[in-house]
Amino acid sequence: MNQKHLHIREAISHPIFKQVGDIADALSVECYVVGGFVRDYLLRRSLPSDIDFVTVGSGIQLAKEVAKNLKGEPKVSTFKTYGTAMIKYDGLDLEFVGARKESYQRNSRNPIVEDGSLEDDQNRRDFTINAMAICLNKDRFGELVDPFGGVSDLNAKCIRTPLDPDITFSDDPLRMMRAIRFASQLNFEIDLPTLESIKRQCERIDIITKERIVVELNKILLSDRPSIGLGLLKDTGLLKRLIPELTALEGIEEIEGKKHKDNFWHTLEVVDNMAQLSSDLWLRWAALLHDIGKAPTKRFDKKIGWTFHGHEFVGSKMVYRLFRRLKMTLGDPMKRVQKLVLMSSRPIVISEDYVTDSAVRRLIFDAGEDLEGLMTLCVSDITTKNPRKQDRYKRNFEIVKEKIKEVEERDRVRNFQPPVSGELIMKTFDIGPSREIGLLKEALKEAILEGEIPNEFEAAYKLMIKKAEELGLKPVKQ
Ligand code: CTP
Repeated sequence: MNQKHLHIREAISHPIFKQVGDIADALSVECYVVGGFVRDYLLRRSLPSDIDFVTVGSGIQLAKEVAKNLKGEPKVSTFKTYGTAMIKYDGLDLEFVGARKESYQRNSRNPIVEDGSLEDDQNRRDFTINAMAICLNKDRFGELVDPFGGVSDLNAKCIRTPLDPDITFSDDPLRMMRAIRFASQLNFEIDLPTLESIKRQCERIDIITKERIVVELNKILLSDRPSIGLGLLKDTGLLKRLIPELTALEGIEEIEGKKHKDNFWHTLEVVDNMAQLSSDLWLRWAALLHDIGKAPTKRFDKKIGWTFHGHEFVGSKMVYRLFRRLKMTLGDPMKRVQKLVLMSSRPIVISEDYVTDSAVRRLIFDAGEDLEGLMTLCVSDITTKNPRKQDRYKRNFEIVKEKIKEVEERDRVRNFQPPVSGELIMKTFDIGPSREIGLLKEALKEAILEGEIPNEFEAAYKLMIKKAEELGLKPVKQ
């Protein structure tokens, strides 16, 4: 079959396509739907709500005419510099652009735009699979225009640039990350010359804003097997420029016959395990960063071999600097990732020892809302290939989980509120805000977490009187 004349009307069965085509006919301009919509239709993925239209004429004029003829006459947002216009309609984001010939300035993403033909426009797109267009004009309605073999690349699961990759990537270096992101999302391979070009040009990623880079990183992390994208980021040299904390984990050192594991590849396995268990982006970030403290804390001790003392604490501090450098949110998600990194070894330590109630109570108290996430991280962290060890770790975790359930039901320490309040302490001893209140509250909390007293008012009140006496405080008569 000649793919250039393949008709895929089914893709454009939504009435909007005929409406846009009719208006384009009335204006005597060619009009196509292009890019991700066509790709996702052919991949039988769920269709995106963003639809890109390209016209060989003015995108803004076409958008305005289309809006006039739509129910409710939706607003048109125009971006004159880029010659684009957007309409929000019926849950869809319709974007109109005039076909362009573009050349980019070397040190900026801002293009110099000139009008062009459909072919010019397809030439300047990122990948063959994103450069297919379906015609909407009446006499060619549904005709697929695929000059670079996008359909055959989809079938071959191949990411390839329409032009010489050096030109495509130099036009917009973010595309290097997009190539890797699509490879990870779709489980595609990057064509060798395209991959080689990314390796050659990786330092050009430095001109791209952090915000756009993070969008791609997040998409890689949210793919089914993030290790595909993360491995490619490393192999191409991009990861070293973006997250050197991770590439520092690569490698195995051996001294006196003692080796440690390669913490980079281990990390990728942990992220993949996490991806199987949770779609929470921040849990995936926690999995990615859980061992970053291991590079700066690595030591060799003649007696015990390799150690990474305090790597969880060091790692959690590094999370803040890393998020700040990547201009990511420094709010709750970052704090959650920090906490998960800081606590990442706690359930393991418990599972290796005899599991005491007080250790479990402390874990529940310290992890609070993030307890489930932490347990998921720890299960994901089991990457040993030794089936006996694997079984033992998993069994121990089950024991810890059971114990958590039991202690939670009994002691309710998750969102711990001390059974004796600061106000009651002040009233009982007729004192104002003071250091003693803090000391008493801390002593009560410790006693409850240690299991010396139950998490109940009566017992806590009695202990408060006793501890206060030690501090020289006497209850006043009520
Ligand atoms: N495009 C490009 N270079 C970029 C970004 C986008 O050539 N750096 C082109 C591609 O043809 C792409 C289209 O613009 O298909 C739309 O881009 P966008 O909406 O960002 O991506 P999609 O391909 O739709 O995919 P996704 O929604 O998954 O990002």
